[in-house]
Parts: sequence; structure tokens; C-alpha cells
Amino acid sequence: MNQSGMSQHEGTVAPSNDEHKFATMSISSTSTESQGAWHSETIIVGGGVIGCAIAFELASRGQEVLLVEQSQIASGASSAAAGMLAADSEAFAHPLMVKAAYDSRELLHKHKEQISALTGIDFGLRRSGFITPFRSYSDLNQYKNKWKGSSGAEQFWWDRPTVQREAEWLNRETYGAYYRPLESEALPVSLTRAYARSAQMMGARIWEGVQDVRLVVNNDGVRGVATAKGEISCKHVIVAAGLHGGELMYQVGETLPTRPVKGEIMAIRFPQDQAVYRPDRTIYAEDVYIVPKVNGEVWIGATSLPGRKDHSVSANSVQRLLGAASYWVPGIKGADFVRAWAGVRPATPDGLPYIGKCENIAGLYTAYGHFRNGILLSAITSQWIADMLEGKSAQEIGIEAFSPDRLKRKGVML
Ligand code: FAD
Ligand code: GLY
Repeated sequence: MNQSGMSQHEGTVAPSNDEHKFATMSISSTSTESQGAWHSETIIVGGGVIGCAIAFELASRGQEVLLVEQSQIASGASSAAAGMLAADSEAFAHPLMVKAAYDSRELLHKHKEQISALTGIDFGLRRSGFITPFRSYSDLNQYKNKWKGSSGAEQFWWDRPTVQREAEWLNRETYGAYYRPLESEALPVSLTRAYARSAQMMGARIWEGVQDVRLVVNNDGVRGVATAKGEISCKHVIVAAGLHGGELMYQVGETLPTRPVKGEIMAIRFPQDQAVYRPDRTIYAEDVYIVPKVNGEVWIGATSLPGRKDHSVSANSVQRLLGAASYWVPGIKGADFVRAWAGVRPATPDGLPYIGKCENIAGLYTAYGHFRNGILLSAITSQWIADMLEGKSAQEIGIEAFSPDRLKRKGVML
């Protein structure tokens, strides 16, 4: 306990295959921090995949870092994700998103090696390849028209006989499919906690249950963060609070809003006698995705409901997802239902994340608004933020399109 009586939680993360029970466990054991005044060179606000990846990267560069999370590590959108690293399969509207996605997917594979050597944690990252199937020639053409110009994807065309040979569990009527061998997926909660645990092992402090966090700024820039139990001084603050990033920024006069887009998703499991019907690669179709996970489950997602912040799952959505999924993988009709859940994606007005330095407030950085791809973009976001803290500009890194000040510069009214 320190002077102001704040007892913080710090502790260890253990690996587990029970992905969603995991999300309700604290990574902490209660410990005490006794010093006259709290200080950290850098404070990260938010313990989702983005904040934890940044803590990992900064700690690996030997920087002093404290992450404050109002609830628990991986309790926000990162606990709801499917964990796909769909760099070749998502239709990105901006060329920087395409590049960021490729680079980040590859960087995540490098982080896997680093994290595994450091902690022994396996967060289920596999390069299993994704299949995008089509019902007909006309569906394929529609898809190609939509994708015009946006893809430099590493992909192969599979005609019907190839699909039937390579993916026996896929609907036999499938016209054909793109196969994207570099696509990967991971367990998102395990990944987030692995980042947090590795950061801790390299000296980062992770505090959970820190309430009423506010940014403290003056004319010279950032001074620290205020919390329910006391103030922590620092040189840099990184706002990585996902959907709530906009509220924190608004308190210091910056308008960088997020918009909620709820997603519902579910898990099934194939009984032993149905195992031959279980897909062994992700199906990334236009109407649904089906993701076989390393823990034996198969996840089916997801709905997209703009403006919704609640976490209910409707029977109608489960029915719709199961209907679409069992068209592509008919064997799903013989699988067991395990559970369903929902999360809220942090979208931005122009669909791009806010990653970078805030022009008006020295020492303040943003890393939020990753919408559908925060798991995928976590690794590259952490590298960029760490580079900027070491003095590189957005221009040097080539990420001005993600600058937090871009909307203001363009005169977008918010
Ligand atoms: P979060 O995970 O929400 O973390 C933000 C954290 O900040 C939270 O823990 C919150 O408690 C904390 N916080 C907020 N305010 C404060 C405050 N004032 N003080 C302290 N802490 C605060 N992405 C992919 O790449 N691949 C996928 O397959 C994928 N599938 C998805 C499926 C669904 C159904 C959904 C909903 C999302 C999916 N996403 C996917 C998107 C992905 O989940 C998000 O982009 C990502 O989790 C955002 O991470 P984050 O760290 O920014 O936010
Ligand atoms: N990236 C998948 C989703 O957001 O549903």
C-alpha cells in the first residue's frame, strides 16, 4: 500500500485453453507498491490487445511502462474477437491498411517466437490458410468487382474438383474458392494475456481495476493520469482504451470519436464420431466466417450491428449464423453448441484507426479505433508507437493516414 492507500494488483498470467473463462480471470495477485509518489516514464491506458502489445514492445526496448486497466486484461472487444489475422481476406479500403495488415501478420509470428521463448505461453497462433468459397460463377464475379484494386493477396484459385479434394468437409456444390495460404489465426484472449505477461516479465507494471482514469494535461503537455485513488505522473500517455478512447480524449478537448459496432459470435464442437466433418481451415465466406481453433472448438461469426453497445446475443442471430455456416460446412448440423457471446468493435468515422502523436498536447499518443482488425493490427501498432516514442515522426514511418489529427486537418465536422 502506498501513501494514498491504493492497493494495486500485479501478478502473473498463466496459459490456458479455456479461452473465455480466461477472460474473466485477473492476471493479478495483490501486491503493494510503496513509494512517495507514483511515476512512470510512460503510461498506457487500456489493457486490451492494443495496450498490452504496446506494453510488450516498450518493455522489450527497455522502457519504463505502466499499464492501467479499469477492469481486467482482455475484458473489452479483445475478449470477443474471432482471432483471425485476415490480411489477405479482408477488403481494406485504404492502401495503408493493406500494408499494415501484411506487416502485422508477419510480425505476430515473430512475436510468437519471442513470447514463447520468454514465457512458454502458446497463444494458438497458426498459419492454417483461409478459404473464400463461392456458390456460383456470378457470385465470384460480383466479389471480383467489389475487390477491384484493393488486393495484392497471396492466393490460389481452387476449381470445384480441387475444392472437393482439398476440403472434403466443404459443401460439394461449391463452385470454386480462393485459397490464401499465409492467413493465420490465434486465440485472442490468450494473445492479449501473453503480451501482458511478457511485458511484466520484462519489467512493465500492469495494474487492473484502476477506476476513474482521466488524463492530466497543462500548457506544457501531458503531466500524468488521475485515478480514483491518486495521480500518477509521467512523460508520455498512450490512450489505448478501444471504444472508450474518444471519451478520454474529449475530456482534454480533442474530438476523436469512436462508434460502436456490435458483433455476435458463437462456438461449437464436433463430437468424436463427427470429427471427419470438422473443417481444418478457416472459411472466410461473404456471409459468415468459420474458424477452427487450436482448443478444439470451431467459432462462427459474426453479426455487425452499428450503434449497438449491449452484449446480448439474439436467438435470431444464432440461427442466422448457424444457417450460413451449415450451408458451407454441412457437417455443422451434427456438432454440439458450446456458447455464444458478443463484443463491441471500436469503429471510427473514416474506418481508419487513430495511431500517433497528438499535435496539440505534447506527450499524448493515441492507439485506438481498430474496428474489425485490432487483433491483426496489434503487433504493428505496438512497433509504430514505440518508434514514435523514440522520436520517429509519422512521416518517417509512413503512417500519416492514421494520424489522430487527420480529421481536423481535412476539416471533417464531428
Ligand atoms: P479493447 O479490447 O476493447 O480494450 C480496451 C481496454 O481499455 C478495455 O479493457 C477497457 O476496459 C479499457 N478501458 C477503457 N476505458 C478505460 C479507462 N478510462 N481507464 C482504463 N481502462 C480503460 N479483430 C481481428 O483482428 N480479428 C478478428 O477475427 C476479429 N474478430 C472480431 C469479432 C467480433 C465479434 C468482434 C466484436 C471484434 C472482432 N475483432 C477482430 C476486432 C477486435 O476485437 C478489436 O479491434 C480489438 O479487440 C480492439 O482492441 P483494443 O485493445 O483497442 O480494445
Ligand atoms: N474481423 C472479424 C469481425 O470483426 O467480425
